[in-house]
Amino acid sequence: MDFPEYRPRRFRRTENLRRMVRETVLSVDQLVYPLFVLPGKNLKNPVKSMPGVFQYSVDRFLDELKGVVQLNIPAILLFGLPSEKDERGSEAYSQSGAVQEAVRAAKDRYPELVVITDVCLCEYTSHGHCGLLHGQEVDNDSTLEILARVAVSHARAGADVVAPSDMMDGRVGAIRRALDGSGFDQAGIMAYSAKYCSAFYGPFRDAADSAPQFGDRRSYQMDSANSDEALREVALDIGEGADIVMVKPALAYLDVIRRVKDQFDRPVAAYNVSGEYSMVKAAAAQGWLDEKRVMMEILTGIRRAGADMILTYFAKEAADVLQS
Ligand code: PBG
Repeated sequence: MDFPEYRPRRFRRTENLRRMVRETVLSVDQLVYPLFVLPGKNLKNPVKSMPGVFQYSVDRFLDELKGVVQLNIPAILLFGLPSEKDERGSEAYSQSGAVQEAVRAAKDRYPELVVITDVCLCEYTSHGHCGLLHGQEVDNDSTLEILARVAVSHARAGADVVAPSDMMDGRVGAIRRALDGSGFDQAGIMAYSAKYCSAFYGPFRDAADSAPQFGDRRSYQMDSANSDEALREVALDIGEGADIVMVKPALAYLDVIRRVKDQFDRPVAAYNVSGEYSMVKAAAAQGWLDEKRVMMEILTGIRRAGADMILTYFAKEAADVLQS
């Protein structure tokens, strides 16, 4: 049937007609809110390049969680800053680290809230790389053991899910074995499987104080030109025990999200990263676009591409829109 018998505009005429044929549903259930914690008391430091994002001490983080829970957001993703950095990032697996304390406090106060922890070393190493150095090289295999220790320390604190973001080969398997070996077979793994070497992480590195002190992350994060390789990465991570696979960033990689969703039988997460957030905030602050509408369009687009869940600094604002 063609025009004039078929007129697509018929079902765009009113909001209820549009609702009936709407294909993609964005719900608060699919949102994960990233938060940054640091040692100390009564701290809420604004992150300059990310309006609305703060680094919290654990006490203030708990205050913040109240609003998150009230908005019915099911899950948070925690990043930590150490009191001291060293070559090996050893504070990353300290039981008294900011993340470990925040996890304990969060699970104590809000046992139902899903707590996911980012597992990486770049916030904790003096050189800012995501793994241990041998000379100027990030050494894969010696890093695995440390990452596994970090993951176990998070699970011991009560994390429901650990999310390795380092991009070392074999880390999902190493973490799965370590978790199982320590009695945490119920802790899930959300793997940053297709994590690209992206300039969109710029603002995050202010928030997490994790910029590499020399070089860049090209030797471990993926080349943005590749998507077949993303499928190989996802296949490896699923083989090693990933429960959820992630594509990151989201906006410049919507095709990768779709390919992963079509090809694999695991929930797919997409990370709407710091630069994607800050671009919108900056343009909105100039009055150049309608922030709420752009935010909802972006999140809906990421869902339409195939993401089952979205990690986003917009989670609270989006939850607010979705509830009104
Ligand atoms: C740590 C990590 C990064 C992000 C999440 N985990 C930064 C990086 O790889 O440099 C980026 C998140 C964002 O930009 O919002 N490896």
